[in-house]
Amino acid sequence: MLPSQAAYPATRFRRARRTESLRRLTQEHVLSANDLIWPIFIRDGAGVSEPVLSMPGVSRLTIDLAVRAAEEAAGLGIPALCLFPYTDPSVKTESCDEAWNPGNLTNRCIRAIKAAVPEIAVMTDIALDPYNANGHDGLVRDGVILNDETVEALVRMALAQAESGADILGPSDMMDGRIGAIRAALEGAGHKDVAILSYSAKYASAFYGPFRDAVGASAALKGDKKTYQMTPANSDEALRLIERDLREGADMVMVKPGMPYLDICRRVKDTFGVPTFAYQVSGEYAMIRGAADRGWINGESAMLESLLAFKRAGCDGILTYFAPEAARLLRG
Ligand code: PBG
Repeated sequence: MLPSQAAYPATRFRRARRTESLRRLTQEHVLSANDLIWPIFIRDGAGVSEPVLSMPGVSRLTIDLAVRAAEEAAGLGIPALCLFPYTDPSVKTESCDEAWNPGNLTNRCIRAIKAAVPEIAVMTDIALDPYNANGHDGLVRDGVILNDETVEALVRMALAQAESGADILGPSDMMDGRIGAIRAALEGAGHKDVAILSYSAKYASAFYGPFRDAVGASAALKGDKKTYQMTPANSDEALRLIERDLREGADMVMVKPGMPYLDICRRVKDTFGVPTFAYQVSGEYAMIRGAADRGWINGESAMLESLLAFKRAGCDGILTYFAPEAARLLRG
């Protein structure tokens, strides 16, 4: 129940909006650099920053430049980076062995960043799609995405990332049982302090298109991901998935995509009160950036408004490709 308030003219809402100082004083939610996780794309080589065509302003970085990005992020007060590898098609196989190779691109990049910028938290993605000849997040047999066999592979992948020094593991695959299996394996291997930020409520979304270009999975992907990612029509199911992942040992949970799913963010925060994140995904970034580049919207304002909306919806933090730009603007 809202406290009762006097009728007009005793109550005039415009009084509190009259000046900048009054508006600041009565502001309910605040966005800061502390709320941001910056997803970056990495590739092999040295000294190369290769633009992602469907994400203007975003590039695939070689490890040396990823380390620079980490330094930049730390300087801007961004607490964490999240790594996504562009894998050469020649390395992709049906068995996805490259995913748990201690020397793979992601694991080398984790070590390089932690050596140079130890204060920044490094988050990873756990799913087989960058390494899979058929582009799926799981192992495929006769056209079926296998659950339990995939979980075993994901555990190997998680251990290799933890061994390399990752601070936060982000299982994004939507297989059943993976959080419990990964948590048990981490405990068993002495990685008891590695955090899991589960992509718990991940929808089968059209907004991932530019990302799949960025990691080179678009060409490989056969079919869609609807047998493991959620239908956009469901909301209660998201709460059941979050509860399941928390029971299995997730420290933080995520809703993905972001802007079209703010209702889910709010339900999750209200129901569980746990650290809740949203991923403002590649397609959301491309929409805002694309319209701004054409002069159809004010890009900076639209970006900050979109990020503040996540805070209002109950999120503690946001994965966003706008992270460095937003942090710079928030700094003033
Ligand atoms: C892969 C993964 C995807 C994203 C993050 N991890 C794509 C997918 O599920 O197809 C999407 C991120 C984005 O669109 O920015 N498991």
